[in-house]
Amino acid sequence: MRFKYSIPVVFVLALVIIEKENKIISKVSDKLALKQPPDSSLQLLLKPNHNGSLIFHPRTSAPVFTLMKRRLENYNSHQNSPRTKSKQKHILLLATTRTGSSFVGEFFNQQGDNMFYLFEPLWHVEKMLTLEGGGTNATAAAKAYRDVLQQLFQCDFSLLESFIEPPPVDHVTTNLFRRWSSSSLCADSVCSPFVQGDFEKFHCKTRKCGPLNLTMASQSCLQKDHRAIKSVRVRQLETLRPLAEDPRLDVKFIQLVRDPRAVLASRIVAFEQYKNWKEWATQGNVPLDDDEVRKLKGNCDNIRTSAQIGLKQPKWLRGRYMLVRYEDIARFPMRKAAEMYKFAGIPFTPQVKSWIAKNTQVSQKETSGVYSLQRNSSEHVEKWRFSLPFKIAQVVQKVCKPTLKLFGYKVVNNEKMLTDRSVSLIEDKAFNFP
Ligand SMILES: *[C@@H]1O[C@H](CO)[C@@H](O)[C@H](O)[C@H]1NC(C)=O
Ligand SMILES: *[C@@H]1O[C@H](CO)[C@@H](O)[C@H](O)[C@H]1NC(C)=O
Ligand SMILES: *[C@@H]1O[C@H](CO)[C@@H](O)[C@H](O)[C@H]1NC(C)=O
Ligand SMILES: *[C@@H]1O[C@H](CO)[C@@H](O)[C@H](O)[C@H]1NC(C)=O
Repeated sequence: MRFKYSIPVVFVLALVIIEKENKIISKVSDKLALKQPPDSSLQLLLKPNHNGSLIFHPRTSAPVFTLMKRRLENYNSHQNSPRTKSKQKHILLLATTRTGSSFVGEFFNQQGDNMFYLFEPLWHVEKMLTLEGGGTNATAAAKAYRDVLQQLFQCDFSLLESFIEPPPVDHVTTNLFRRWSSSSLCADSVCSPFVQGDFEKFHCKTRKCGPLNLTMASQSCLQKDHRAIKSVRVRQLETLRPLAEDPRLDVKFIQLVRDPRAVLASRIVAFEQYKNWKEWATQGNVPLDDDEVRKLKGNCDNIRTSAQIGLKQPKWLRGRYMLVRYEDIARFPMRKAAEMYKFAGIPFTPQVKSWIAKNTQVSQKETSGVYSLQRNSSEHVEKWRFSLPFKIAQVVQKVCKPTLKLFGYKVVNNEKMLTDRSVSLIEDKAFNFP
């Protein structure tokens, strides 16, 4: 059985993809910290809103809620639009960095002609809403994320456009983040003629295209049966409730989680901002009241709270939430992909299957020199155990304990257990609903 062999190999591929993703994200994050919007009037519109309950539309200064109201008014006139297909699905892949979300995003990016896929569109929103000291106002950002997603799922790029720097001209931009990661944005129908000398930062790799014309993107999006968006930026699932309740949408949330100890191990290697952790790992003890530790706890709590709400299946989320562990995808990619498609209610196409199979073979060839194929998949998934010092693992376990427990990640009691290959830290756990 070829498939049996392919499992560990896919994981190698996943690792490679994650590494790539994070190089970019870490570069980006570094920039975020330094970011200074060039236009100070823009800054004025965005920043001084510490008191208010509304965030402002960056270019028009119209409060987002006014825009929403307007959209709801429009809604009545569009309600009977023939484009509204009852079978149309809107998939939102929610994750955090270093959880393999780019890889899982490919499951949908590769679906074929019926899918419009966007890779991290909220990057622009986060970037613009980043405050001077770094970070965002979580409340304000959550609203903006939600509103942008709600529009994008309807193929409306206008709010997103207002967050793109420099501002698109006639809905054309040379700066859409990672355009090349969305096959939909590099399809023939969205590929305007290439112009010599027009520099596009994230240009398509499969063909030469001119700068991205978002009018064309929107038109192409409207032709598709299904839409999928991947994001590592949404903190709380609950903030997206209006999407679930929007009668124009049929949203399916897929939350991707990973052992927080592994995530931290991976971020320490990849991200410059984790340099304190790196220091603590090599010397000294971790001060438990440190900002970094609080941030870690905040992340774990957000992920757990979202999952708890999802798993509880409140009425607004019924049939709309699926939890997937990175470790299960790495070990059983084909099976998990099939499950996700089943959950989403869209056909698991031969294109996706063959993408998974093909990439497995490709990486088998590519990596056979580097990785020993004797190593089995659970070893790859748990490789972090040999790079993360026990004292760091302990800190994660201390502040993320309920998160580990919820997702079925075993706590280690001592250094020996951490590096004991005969003990897997991944408990079999099904997150299925009756
Ligand atoms: C809040 O800020 C807005 C401008 O952003 C201002 O118009 C308004 O008066 C402020 N409200 C309070 C209660 O300070
Ligand atoms: C963040 O934004 C919200 C709503 O926009 C506002 O109510 C809150 O005061 C802001 N918080 C901070 C710390 O600026
Ligand atoms: C963008 O595409 C639309 C639709 O095809 C077209 O009408 C418009 O002229 C294009 N914009 C530019 C600036 O080329
Ligand atoms: C794979 O590795 C795990 C953990 O090291 C071990 O328990 C398991 O027996 C191994 N399986 C095979 C088939 O080698």
